[in-house]
Amino acid sequence: MSDILVNVENISKHFDKTIAVNEISLNIKAGEIVALIGPNGAGKSTTMRIITGFLQPDSGNVLIKNMNMLKNSYECKKNIGYLAEVSGIYQDLTTREYLEFIANAYNLSDIDSKIIEVSKLTRIGKSLDKTLENLSKGMKQRVFLAGSLIHNPDILVLDEPTEGLDPNQKQEMQTLLKKLAEDKKAILLSTHVLEEVSNICSRVIVISDGKILADETPKKKKKRAGDMNKSFAELTKETK
Ligand SMILES: Nc1ncnc2c1ncn2[C@@H]1O[C@H](COP(=O)(O)OP(=O)(O)OP(=O)(O)O)[C@@H](O)[C@H]1O
Ligand SMILES: [Mg+2]
Repeated sequence: MSDILVNVENISKHFDKTIAVNEISLNIKAGEIVALIGPNGAGKSTTMRIITGFLQPDSGNVLIKNMNMLKNSYECKKNIGYLAEVSGIYQDLTTREYLEFIANAYNLSDIDSKIIEVSKLTRIGKSLDKTLENLSKGMKQRVFLAGSLIHNPDILVLDEPTEGLDPNQKQEMQTLLKKLAEDKKAILLSTHVLEEVSNICSRVIVISDGKILADETPKKKKKRAGDMNKSFAELTKETK
């Protein structure tokens, strides 16, 4: 069996006159951590929303383990954990209630032990009985990550998972993602932090104006960019 878990074939998406995603194709294998980088408005979140089945493309296909997202969205979605860009809902639930809600949505059994399992993995045990609105940004991010892991998906799509985290929390999140990749999960994440790309990603896809400009290993990108601390504007310009 092929270890390609995500296959994106030529997807496009317009919003009125804006082309948010313009003929993007990519694939992600088990064990890979692929970074999606590019300036604000490049189309990263829109691409991720299409891959996770929350938005339909105007054209093109998304295959999850060879199943078509448009034709078989329930089966496809069961294989995906999605950390969305804006997770401002459910603020008055406790962490435990939030995780129970997600687990019920996936029709899981043995919910209590699954909550304990993801709590250990994401280290949110102390926050289980606090309401989400009372958690720090970093802790909330970990709770949402726990929610995206509770059904043990093989594919993770994480929209800026380390955004707003302090340096320690960032590093913890990166360590966790590496561990998940070692467990053969396929991970697609978006980021504005180039250091993160070089630390944990096996591949980097640069997009700008909805188009892929480069799809390569960070090492090669580093060599070409010369300096990983360059701004994204410079980096994306360089690849044009
Ligand atoms: N629901 C929407 N309605 C109209 N336009 C949208 C919508 N969602 C995204 N867009 C537009 O599509 C383009 C791509 O947006 P997207 O959110 O995918 O970018 P991004 O790469 O995630 O940016 P950022 O780095 O700021 O998160 C932008 O021009 C944006 O304004
Ligand atoms: Mg975005």
